[in-house]
Amino acid sequence: MLKVALVGVGGISGAHIPAWNNMEDAELVALCDIRPQQMERYPEQRHYTDFDELLENEQIDILDICLPTYLHADFAVKALNKGIHVLCEKPISLNAEDVQRVYRAAAENGVWFMVAQVLRFWPEYEVLKALYDQKTYGALLSGSMTRLGCYPKWSWDGWMMDEKRSGLVPFDLHIHDLDFMVYAFGKPNRADCHRSRRQEQDALNVVYEYDGFYLTSEASWYAAPYPFRVAFRFQFEHAVVAWENGEMTIYEQNGRIWHPIGDAQGDTGNIGLPQSDAYANEIRYFADCVKENKVPAKVKPAELETVIELLKELR
Ligand SMILES: NC(=O)c1ccc[n+]([C@@H]2O[C@H](COP(=O)([O-])OP(=O)(O)OC[C@H]3O[C@@H](n4cnc5c(N)ncnc54)[C@H](O)[C@@H]3O)[C@@H](O)[C@H]2O)c1
Repeated sequence: MLKVALVGVGGISGAHIPAWNNMEDAELVALCDIRPQQMERYPEQRHYTDFDELLENEQIDILDICLPTYLHADFAVKALNKGIHVLCEKPISLNAEDVQRVYRAAAENGVWFMVAQVLRFWPEYEVLKALYDQKTYGALLSGSMTRLGCYPKWSWDGWMMDEKRSGLVPFDLHIHDLDFMVYAFGKPNRADCHRSRRQEQDALNVVYEYDGFYLTSEASWYAAPYPFRVAFRFQFEHAVVAWENGEMTIYEQNGRIWHPIGDAQGDTGNIGLPQSDAYANEIRYFADCVKENKVPAKVKPAELETVIELLKELR
């Protein structure tokens, strides 16, 4: 049985904690947050308000870091140096130098580290990558990715709205789509960014150029109660592959229209791929790497460095 602790019981921990609790071969034994009230709804775990105390008192195999971004690398290194495997929310850091620092600590202590770049485990994005890799519909010609929402006033201590602590829209939101691009298509040759930044808004549109195709991506925090929206649309030689309004659809040149992924009611779509929870998928993947002593190669440090370097240029 894997013993697990999680630090940072805020927004995203609400996706991680149930995933750990639903696993039969892992036990979430402890939580840590400087705000004790955040942990009250999880009475089954031991609670700590001091991370060092957790490390001193708990014998754990895995630490799951759901802290604000600027704390990720230091907390990860501390746990890795204690011989604990670490799964860490995105982004690993706002500084590319931290990638080597963290991976070095993992290597020196003989443990694994992985950043939870969740789109790599998201069924719709996995199908898209497979269609591209297998050239199912010929060459990719263009694509667009969308990630929109409202200004994150809810974060603890307003950390998300502080550029030094969160990196704002590039590092907090757009990173998802850029990380997927680098993972699926490699490093773009060129990026052309237009960005509108004001006191309570941050919106950007970027065109990434690759050999033979280009990708556009828009991401924003609007100063309005705009609902959170994600989507993509990719144009291949012989089909358009879209994920819009929560449904993935493939529009083939020959007129066929179909959905590769089923709905939550058990309709498994035309190729039998069940809908699944990407957060649970990434957590399962990392736990399996720990159990089987397999490198978590689905998220590579060189790709993380490339993404940080590209994000730093988005002004
Ligand atoms: N993968 C995704 O889809 C996704 C979505 C949202 C957030 N995130 C990432 O998850 C991370 C956390 O974001 P969030 O929205 O949950 O933030 P949040 O502000 O809701 O939660 C952060 C929590 O950390 C706690 N905390 C702060 N300092 C601490 C310390 N020193 N020790 C212990 N606890 C401390 C706070 O009390 C708070 O409860 C960020 O890096 C963010 O980028 C990822």
